[in-house]
Amino acid sequence: MKSLTPVFLSILCVLSSVTAIPDHDVLEPMSDDDWPGLEHRKQKRDVHQAVTLQQSEHFVWGSQNNTGTYANMTLNTKDEELVISMERFASELRSVTCGDNLVMTFVSNETYTHVINEWEWVNFHESRTFILIENYAGCGAQSSRQPWVVSNAQYDNTHQTVHLNATKKTWQEVAHTYSMDFGKYTAAASASNETKRGLLGIPDVSASGTKTFSIPLANTLPSTLFKSTIHESLTFGVDCNTCGTKGTLEVTGHVESSIKNGLTTFSVSAVPKSVSVDLALKMSAKGSLGKTWTQQATFLTVPIAGFSIPQVLTVGPNLRFDGGMTVSKITGSAEISSGVKATVPDSSIASVDFVSKAVDVKGWVPTFSIQPVTFGAQVDAEVSLYLQVAVALSLNCLGTGYSVDLDLKVPEIDIKGEAKYDSKKAVCPNTTKNGGLSINTSAGAAMTFEAYSMIASKKSVLVNKPVFNSPKAFTAPSVCLPFDGPGAGAAPAKGGKAKRYQGASAPGRRQY
Ligand SMILES: *[C@@H]1O[C@H](CO)[C@@H](O)[C@H](O)[C@H]1NC(C)=O
Ligand SMILES: *[C@@H]1O[C@H](CO)[C@@H](O)[C@H](O)[C@H]1NC(C)=O
Ligand SMILES: *[C@@H]1O[C@H](CO)[C@@H](O)[C@H](O)[C@H]1NC(C)=O
Ligand SMILES: *[C@@H]1O[C@H](CO)[C@@H](O)[C@H](O)[C@H]1NC(C)=O
Ligand SMILES: *[C@@H]1O[C@H](CO)[C@@H](O)[C@H](O)[C@H]1NC(C)=O
Ligand SMILES: *[C@@H]1O[C@H](CO)[C@@H](O)[C@H](O)[C@H]1NC(C)=O
Ligand SMILES: *[C@@H]1O[C@H](CO)[C@@H](O)[C@H](O)[C@H]1NC(C)=O
Repeated sequence: MKSLTPVFLSILCVLSSVTAIPDHDVLEPMSDDDWPGLEHRKQKRDVHQAVTLQQSEHFVWGSQNNTGTYANMTLNTKDEELVISMERFASELRSVTCGDNLVMTFVSNETYTHVINEWEWVNFHESRTFILIENYAGCGAQSSRQPWVVSNAQYDNTHQTVHLNATKKTWQEVAHTYSMDFGKYTAAASASNETKRGLLGIPDVSASGTKTFSIPLANTLPSTLFKSTIHESLTFGVDCNTCGTKGTLEVTGHVESSIKNGLTTFSVSAVPKSVSVDLALKMSAKGSLGKTWTQQATFLTVPIAGFSIPQVLTVGPNLRFDGGMTVSKITGSAEISSGVKATVPDSSIASVDFVSKAVDVKGWVPTFSIQPVTFGAQVDAEVSLYLQVAVALSLNCLGTGYSVDLDLKVPEIDIKGEAKYDSKKAVCPNTTKNGGLSINTSAGAAMTFEAYSMIASKKSVLVNKPVFNSPKAFTAPSVCLPFDGPGAGAAPAKGGKAKRYQGASAPGRRQY
């Protein structure tokens, strides 16, 4: 397993309660015979075609865990260079020995003869080489694709054996001109569901459905978010009974590199699928606060299994739930409850190309529904708090690593309650009482997006973009609760001010 990029680790180190990182899903070689868009290759190749050296090869890797995660790569060659995947002619092989060189014995003389005709190309000139992507039981790690560079071929006619002067290379060494996609394709071809066994017993890609790398966002937050004695005169706590997130982020990526232009594209995009955040908060405070108090905390860090193709690609996601709160004012003893549900539209997208630094972020502004706010007493209070879902994704393709952080602050809730008493006139409109508790609630969201590279554990920011900031995306109608006078309890509120606000109340508890 390739090591995770330093940023991933540094995030984890800061946090207290971190569970073990689940294993990376190591993607395995798959046959591309049934890969959508490559149906033409399905036609049975003749043995001659199977051993013909190519100008480019296509490789598919897929998850064995039925998660649908995949990566596909097209590897192109340069002048005086060709390529061939052993998987093309695996059924023609009797045996393969991989030591300092590669020795292959073929089953039929017909194939062997074609091999001589085709591979003799490499012997015509010293500068000629071909890349052989070997995948043979006993040669390397089980079902891994190992590149070799072949500079010379010699033949043993009596044994139908080819001796190759070949050097084992890393993927990074052989891949100079390539393109790669990972995470997702949407083509739903009409291929059958069953897993077919292709060459080498590699399961063919079942082309039904959407292949996506998903980051699960479903999590339940701890029920006590804050518990704090700010100083001797004030205690403050926030409980969250049914707090959590739902949905997934669907991630896809594309990488392109050429010998002429180097790395030209390294892009990743994320699309939310049914993402929502639910908060049912209960804040309790006792005492009085002289100056504004602010606290930020990380509630939860959720390690998520990423995936990797050894030597080729590593995708490591991480999810963090942070929260923060600011109490500007509190006098008295209070219990404030409020519930918010924020839903992020599925039509949102965030994508970045690390090379050109082009960013495309659309949508993400959630729709809100706010449940009734209850205030437990006559209290002056100004409280704002937010929950932030931070998704970090670190990527490494053939030695080049980038990371992206998506921080969605949703919701930001702002609650203001003010108790007033006026001996001369009624405080709340349309009432006769001299006391009134005015409550205003609003909810908003904000998002920032950051893309960066990590070189020798030094972070270099490529893009840092506040995507939007709407702290008052939703404002609940202001409410006024009448009460009789100083010290007396507020009267039950009557009648809803807005559709979602009910006037129901419990003793000592005002509800909107
Ligand atoms: C994949 O499945 C295997 C066996 O069921 C399991 O041990 C492993 O943790 C899974 N990996 C991921 C990344 O889900
Ligand atoms: C196998 O092929 C080689 C090279 O084409 C040829 O010389 C030899 O006679 C063939 N042997 C058999 C048994 O067909
Ligand atoms: C290829 O390998 C063989 C055996 O290792 C050696 O005798 C021969 O000189 C090599 N040829 C070239 C062109 O490297
Ligand atoms: C991956 O497969 C899809 C579907 O066949 C194809 O459109 C895409 O070009 C492939 N990507 C690469 C890099 O080969
Ligand atoms: C694929 O599987 C689903 C459910 O397992 C089934 O309803 C459908 O008919 C299958 N499609 C094909 C093409 O076999
Ligand atoms: C709530 O809003 C109303 C109307 O904007 C304002 O008059 C009132 O003072 C506000 N109450 C609080 C506690 O901020
Ligand atoms: C007060 O009552 C009048 C008449 O019923 C109504 O039009 C007005 O909207 C009320 N004001 C408030 C703040 O409820």
